[in-house]
Amino acid sequence: MTHLERIKIFDTTLRDGEQSPGCSMNLAEKIRLARALEALGVDVIEAGFPIASDGDFAAVKAVAAECREATVAALCRTTEQDILRAWEAVGGAARPRLHTFVATSDIHLEHKLKKSRAEVLKMTRAAVRLARSFTEDVEFSAEDATRSELSYLCEVFAAAVEEGASTLNVPDTVGYTTPTEFRELVSAVRERVVGSREVTISVHCHNDLGLAVANSLAALDAGARQIECTVNGIGERAGNAALEEVVMALRVRSDRLPYACGVRTEAIYPTSQLLSEVIGFGVQPNKAVVGRNAFAHEAGIHQHGVLSNPLCYEIMTPESVGVHANSIVLGKHSGRHALSRRFEELGFTLDAQGLEDAYRDFTKLADRKKNIYDQDLLSLLPARQQRELRQEGGAVELNYAEAVGG
Ligand code: KIV
Ligand code: ZN
Repeated sequence: MTHLERIKIFDTTLRDGEQSPGCSMNLAEKIRLARALEALGVDVIEAGFPIASDGDFAAVKAVAAECREATVAALCRTTEQDILRAWEAVGGAARPRLHTFVATSDIHLEHKLKKSRAEVLKMTRAAVRLARSFTEDVEFSAEDATRSELSYLCEVFAAAVEEGASTLNVPDTVGYTTPTEFRELVSAVRERVVGSREVTISVHCHNDLGLAVANSLAALDAGARQIECTVNGIGERAGNAALEEVVMALRVRSDRLPYACGVRTEAIYPTSQLLSEVIGFGVQPNKAVVGRNAFAHEAGIHQHGVLSNPLCYEIMTPESVGVHANSIVLGKHSGRHALSRRFEELGFTLDAQGLEDAYRDFTKLADRKKNIYDQDLLSLLPARQQRELRQEGGAVELNYAEAVGG
């Protein structure tokens, strides 16, 4: 059996996720989500950026008081004021972490920070040293690492390790890198930075080119052992690496990705739903793992295959991520097998001729109607069974209803 090396899942739904337009959460919502994330089994919950606002400060403090198992991280820049405020908020956690960051790319130094490389190096040292005076769990992030000059990036990381950082995070802040390039970058950091083998290497990928998950997974090959991600992939601009995709890739492809994490996958879908409810919007229907269509099969050939053996078209079961809905969607591409199975679920066994007639009428109806509901199917039953239905009172149990707005 392959040995699975443990990696950490660092969830930043409450910080980077919350920074995205329309995703802000109030204190009670953040606590509700923090509980769900802890139950999901993530290793680290980044609860917020305490210096950003009094609301963020209060939320980090409350999440720190709530979580007993997960590490709770608070974000801070490399200034004394930020670090003191972050510690004030997170210090009460059972497992507190200070996460301090500064940009290392020339474009950020010149246009945003207006600092020289030497100044940023000095700020890094001072910040990590100060953070380390409060806790042994200090993460240092080099913002915009993927657009930073490699030798300078390594110099800054080396300084952070020397001052006692226990995690070095390599963010692809603008979602610019590619899997091969990112793997090489993380390898180079591991090879060049003295002491980097004694600390955890983390990655934090944004999804501007749709590569956040692929980049994060590629970094594991190079020695990264923490992935930063968010539920439903929410986050700045196009979002962060989606937690559910990272975790299910590890589970489904453990032959290629021999790493284990602590996430209870059956809690993925309920957590995704909770987040959608809190922020008021869900994921696109075809979103991997948690989208409405992720386990839906409409084409007749697919439906036949799935009904015979789900492995024909499903690489993971819906139950493995906590989805318990009927995955067969009846539409114009559906076949006799799916139709007959649905009639059986509704309590009607059709003989060969009855099924043939019903199928003929069903395809005509499906050409005209986008969604076929159970009520529609009942009208396709052979006359004798329709009579029986009327005699029984004709009641149909409504299991599922959906309204779609244009
Ligand atoms: O994207 C980024 O660089 C960040 C850092 C604060 C880690 O969110
Ligand atoms: Zn980010």
